[in-house]
Amino acid sequence: MIEAVHLRCEYLDNPIGIDTLVPRISWQLQSDGHGVIQQAYQIQVASEENFSDVLWDSGKVQSEQSVHIELKELEIYPRSRYYYRVRIWDNKNRESNWSNTSYWETGMLHPSEWKSKWVAASPKFLEASSAAPCLFRTTFDVSGKVKKVRIYSTAYGVYELELNGKRVGDQFLTPGWTSYEKRLQYQVYEADHLIDEGTNAIGIVLGHGWYQQDIPWASNQSNQKVPFAALVEVYIEYEDGKVQVIHTDENWKCSHGPIIMSELYHGEIYDARDEKTGWSQGTYDDKDWFDVEVVSYGHNQLIYQQNEPIRIMNEIKPIKWFTTPSGERVLDMGQNMVGWMRFSVKAEAGRVLTLQHAEVLDSEGNFYIGNLRAAQQTINYISKGGPNGEQFQPHFTFQGFRYVKLEGFNEDEINLENFTGVVLHSDMEETGSFQCSNPLINQLQHNIEWGLKGNFLDVPTDCPQRDERLGWTGDAQMFIQSAAFLRNVAPFFTKWLKDLEVDQLEDGGVPFVIPDVLSNKKQNTGYDLNSDHSSSAWGDAAVICPWTIYLNYGDKRILEEQYESMRAWIEYIRSQGENEYLWNTGFHFGDWLALDSKPDSYVGATDRDFIATAFYAYSTSILAKTASIIGRGEDSAFYQDLYRNIVHAFQHEFVTPSGRLAVQTQTAHVLALHFELVSGQTKKRTVQRLSELLKESDYHLTTGFVGTPYLNFVLSGNGLHDLAGKLVLQTDYPSWLYQVTKGATTIWEHWDGLKEDGSFWSDEMNSFNHYAYGSIGDWLYRVIAGINPDENHPGYKHFRIAPKPGAQLEWAEAKLHTLYGMVVSSWYMEEDRIEFDVIIPSNTSATVLLPLTSSKGLDGETFQLIEGVKSVTPTDEGISLVVGSGSYYFSYQIEKELLKV
Ligand code: BGC
Repeated sequence: MIEAVHLRCEYLDNPIGIDTLVPRISWQLQSDGHGVIQQAYQIQVASEENFSDVLWDSGKVQSEQSVHIELKELEIYPRSRYYYRVRIWDNKNRESNWSNTSYWETGMLHPSEWKSKWVAASPKFLEASSAAPCLFRTTFDVSGKVKKVRIYSTAYGVYELELNGKRVGDQFLTPGWTSYEKRLQYQVYEADHLIDEGTNAIGIVLGHGWYQQDIPWASNQSNQKVPFAALVEVYIEYEDGKVQVIHTDENWKCSHGPIIMSELYHGEIYDARDEKTGWSQGTYDDKDWFDVEVVSYGHNQLIYQQNEPIRIMNEIKPIKWFTTPSGERVLDMGQNMVGWMRFSVKAEAGRVLTLQHAEVLDSEGNFYIGNLRAAQQTINYISKGGPNGEQFQPHFTFQGFRYVKLEGFNEDEINLENFTGVVLHSDMEETGSFQCSNPLINQLQHNIEWGLKGNFLDVPTDCPQRDERLGWTGDAQMFIQSAAFLRNVAPFFTKWLKDLEVDQLEDGGVPFVIPDVLSNKKQNTGYDLNSDHSSSAWGDAAVICPWTIYLNYGDKRILEEQYESMRAWIEYIRSQGENEYLWNTGFHFGDWLALDSKPDSYVGATDRDFIATAFYAYSTSILAKTASIIGRGEDSAFYQDLYRNIVHAFQHEFVTPSGRLAVQTQTAHVLALHFELVSGQTKKRTVQRLSELLKESDYHLTTGFVGTPYLNFVLSGNGLHDLAGKLVLQTDYPSWLYQVTKGATTIWEHWDGLKEDGSFWSDEMNSFNHYAYGSIGDWLYRVIAGINPDENHPGYKHFRIAPKPGAQLEWAEAKLHTLYGMVVSSWYMEEDRIEFDVIIPSNTSATVLLPLTSSKGLDGETFQLIEGVKSVTPTDEGISLVVGSGSYYFSYQIEKELLKV
């Protein structure tokens, strides 16, 4: 039995609205047996679900390819549905049935397709309530049998839609955050079930969102000054083929509603007494409403949403409520989370109920908001009263919190049942899990995952709570590989990298944050910034992020599309200073928050030119590979050459003639080794010196944002795996588990966010939900569990499983849903035996390195007998098997001397 399952178009399950002209489709091959490889496929595309009218048929194509097949020959029309199905043949002469049918639907495809006009609130509305979201509405008649209804909509701002009194879609904070002037995403909703015969009404609630808000952190720079506005087009297709289009124009009306203020950082004020009951229904009387203002923002910037929207992803209940020493009533959610509170209450009309949100309590156990800086994170709800009670959840805001301070509630109204923590984030497909025998490491893994949840709200942010919440490039670059294990982050980063590209400066410089709300603006950030773009290790996101997506998902298109942006970044660096092979000018964040920094500085002791040149080399090596992959041979040769020269210049500048690094920090040694900037004797000496440096710090790290992601990889990869284990097991400060033992449920920004004595590192910059140090996850998944992509066969077509038991673990297990199917690596050790399970998906193969056994006494024949094992090779690292798909179980006696725990 073989089957093609899990069909996807552009990574998505039956997407509605995509606007690429050459969609790519993927499937997974499901089968029993070992060593199964696809030999051929056939794809059919039709406009009817029963395939009575096949629009395109690939015929039988001899190919192993089952992911990202470009439908180049298919002609695509706007707003149309395409059904597709696949059948496959494998290397065991089996033929599948046709798969289940999947589909995608196209969006507008071209700006000229749009008919709608942008509507903004009237000046009278703005005079009365400029901070308030605005309601817009219109009515329309429907007569006849309706076949299908689609709504295409977006906003400069954030919006929610209602049709005939019901919410349209399940997405929040649409249209998300992009570099709005150049790229604004629209959403497409299926609304067949919401339409009625007779008079219908459609309504929009429009808030300011990322488009029009102050970024309190950056000198109160208002992001945009022109009015927020909305755009909607409703397509009603009747059974008889008639199409009716309703769209925003001067005939729409607008009004204030119950939301007095709703702002991402500050929260919401909602007066339920002002609810306009029935406002999005046909029967509502809108004669008092204002006329809208039509504004000309055009349609050229409109693109279909590339990443998954923000949705409600979890709901959690408070674990308790308590009264603090200073008398505040506080709910404890038991988890530092991002989203908002939904609550029910029975109160008299006019009572104000206030919910304020915070991450931590202070050392006395009181509610603490110091680290939020200017972000207010406060909900004020004014009750409408009535016998049945009322329920509320906010609209255009989100909070980062574990604790909720309640005001206006009577003690007997604080019933935990009435409060729910609603977790919001981008709805990415869950892909990876990791577990092991150490509960503290499992909690660390939990914290890493919640760091991802809290900071993947449409853009990868640094933190979700204080007055910042920006798409810091460095943080994204540091965490992307860990994230790519936990979720399918390809659509998420495809979208963000496009914003990076359009926000890139003309000379190739990369802004600090994407979307860029800082460049060329006077800043008052409290930091000593003498530039506003292009720091090493931050700007390198332009190169590292597309490469990581390619590696994990075999997505060549992202390399093709980002190539100019990647190249521009390297060319930017090349043009800096006097020596094109060194980067020793400009502003750099350096080894941010490293523990070897001077007192009162955020910047670690590692020389910034050293870091800049090291990353310059690393990114150039990636660019050279990229150029060759996308068929730009000349560029590839040029950048390989550049890379060699940079390495040479690096060695000349930063390695003493006798082979010692000129910069004596942990991070310097880590970068030199991880980026392969030293070799031979110098490399040996660098490894040796790193172990001495660790010893000098009593086996504790001193690294910051730049060195930490690679520290354990370097140790495990250079014969110091025991030290890597030691570091990860430390529970005292500074270490990953220190914060776990302090009760952390997410990853902290600072190693000492909360000190031993219960005091805080500072008020000024102390997030308890910052994912950068969560990059240790990458080491857990790729070294401890050992699941590694192979850059020569990206996207896990072929990969490597090479676990290195360590950190005193008895067992560890990782599962990863790749585009081909599930990979498992799981080992269990008892005394001197190991049991090791692996699962390799169909249509892939893997190199499996058996842990803790050398090639001594290798009995090749034993392995050859196992079905699916293609080769057995003794290597310096141990016994290496190449295996085809299927599950394998190995059980053997380990060579104890190889176990460095
Ligand atoms: C952010 C970081 C960011 C940094 C720049 C901070 O305020 O929270 O995570 O990378 O600034 O160094």
